[in-house]
Amino acid sequence: MSATIPHIHWTDGALRLLDQRRLPHEVEFVDCHTAGEVAQAIRQMVVRGAPAIGITAAYAVALAADAAWRSHGAQWRTAIAEPLAVLAAARPTAVNLHWALARMQRCMAALGGAAPGPVLAREAAAIHAEDIAANRRIGEFGAALIAPGSAVITICNTGTLATGGYGTALGVIRAAHAAGTLTEVFACETRPWLQGARLTMWELQDAGIPATLIADGAAAALMQRRHIAWVIAGADRIAVNGDAANKIGTYGLAVLARAHGVRCMIAAPTSTIDPDTGDGSQIPVEERGADELVSFRGLPVAPPGSRVWNPVFDVTPAGLIDAIVTEHGVVEQPARHGVRGLLRGR
Ligand code: MRU
Repeated sequence: MSATIPHIHWTDGALRLLDQRRLPHEVEFVDCHTAGEVAQAIRQMVVRGAPAIGITAAYAVALAADAAWRSHGAQWRTAIAEPLAVLAAARPTAVNLHWALARMQRCMAALGGAAPGPVLAREAAAIHAEDIAANRRIGEFGAALIAPGSAVITICNTGTLATGGYGTALGVIRAAHAAGTLTEVFACETRPWLQGARLTMWELQDAGIPATLIADGAAAALMQRRHIAWVIAGADRIAVNGDAANKIGTYGLAVLARAHGVRCMIAAPTSTIDPDTGDGSQIPVEERGADELVSFRGLPVAPPGSRVWNPVFDVTPAGLIDAIVTEHGVVEQPARHGVRGLLRGR
């Protein structure tokens, strides 16, 4: 089985998504014919990762517009408001979702009287292709910061599966490996969905990058015992002051990194920067159901009636981040500079 199976695949009138919940042991696809089905796939984690969510939602807009055109003809715009709202609410933290919907709405506004579906599908494909190109640039910029002989820690999955392709933090890791500067990647398993164990290890093995899986709780001991050069993580939303929301556990890694002299890099496209969010306290953090913690694949693990708090992202303050790497360049010490300057290129 290969980690290069197309994971977001548009064919006329349908979006085929690789079901990331079942990887790496089962390869199954979910076919979405409506924007509502796409929103459900996003909510249920069939597709996940901030840029991948944005790309998927963009294709869903083409599906919604096509359906609205068939049902309402020239009045199609009135019928698309509801599916757009459902898509926007699918997951709250990844701002790439809102960024992609806003771009699709700008495209819709510029349309004439012809059927909207094909033009919007082309716009979604452009967003998809641009994301892959952005990730390659992020990889180059990030890898330039990595000295020869470096071991790194990463969390969650930030690879092809989480993006249009190649990956953000995992793109930096790919580029550093290609440059010969990387000795080893430690992948945090990333409870409760195990994106690190299931998806990142799969992608790293597929790419031939030396990788070791660790329990999330082993990161401190690893930094104590081994020389780790960088924590490299992605982001779901970056505030203009440089605070960055990412998978739960990233903040803990950043605190540990500071305590052990390890540097902390956040790698993300500029579509992850939210110009309307001044600092991390304004970032909505998704909390998911108790079932994700009290059971594992349907098997109960906690005693019945256990009270649960399940935030799935946390916010790393800019002061703990050494570099934010985007396709438009790098901001070192973002606490001093903020990231607004990076928005000029987007
Ligand atoms: O809940 P998920 O799997 O969607 O969370 C994904 C992450 O937190 C990633 O690290 C982040 O989206 C960056 S992906 C390039």
